[in-house]
Amino acid sequence: MSAVDLSAFTGLTAMVLLTLNILMGLLVSTNYNSVKQWPHRKLPWPLFRIHNWTGYSALAVAALHPTILLFSATAKFHIVDVLWPLASPGQRNYNILGALTFYAFALVGVTSYFRPKLGSRTWKKLHYTAYFGAAVMYLHGTLIDQNLKGEVPDFLDGEKVLVEACFLLVLGASIWRARYGSEKKRRAAARVSESV
Ligand code: HEM
Repeated sequence: MSAVDLSAFTGLTAMVLLTLNILMGLLVSTNYNSVKQWPHRKLPWPLFRIHNWTGYSALAVAALHPTILLFSATAKFHIVDVLWPLASPGQRNYNILGALTFYAFALVGVTSYFRPKLGSRTWKKLHYTAYFGAAVMYLHGTLIDQNLKGEVPDFLDGEKVLVEACFLLVLGASIWRARYGSEKKRRAAARVSESV
């Protein structure tokens, strides 16, 4: 396995972890209760804690993904290309999308760690950056040529299909979450007007 293959594998792993993390975050935001709802049993740890830890682990794996490219003779990446890929070799624009992904999720992770100091309102506004991070992550993962040959990737290739499937899953879950939120508001408003 070459360094580029290993980097692609860690990129895909980070993306899957971040996808799971977003799905769990959406569930946490609806006050999901695993005892009252499916699977009707207690989880080994509270969902909120699992959500936090998959987030931090995903960030660590995501940092490893471009770092591995430094060990590839074909990629010709230097430290500056990983941290600030404005002049990176090969697919510069798609590398920039990768860096934007990392910095967006890093902001979400760091501000979550300092949530008690920031206060819930500020923290929540900053937490929405995760949607931006997800959008650029799926663009980066789908459009980049994993063989670094600058070719248009095969969108039906197994790895690309995994990225596309994760995107559709998060898109569907976000639409469901938005509808759930408006339904909850509608019911609360109906209760208020009934009580007047
Ligand atoms: C949270 C951050 C990131 C995630 C989740 C991520 C995810 C991915 C995914 C899913 C792929 C496609 C792999 C495939 O199709 O087999 C990929 C490829 C790639 N990414 Fe990222 N990426 C991130 C950050 C970065 C950064 C910061 C850079 C460089 C500055 C970068 C450079 C590349 C390159 C060069 C490829 C193609 C070659 C390879 O797979 O190593 N990525 N990334």
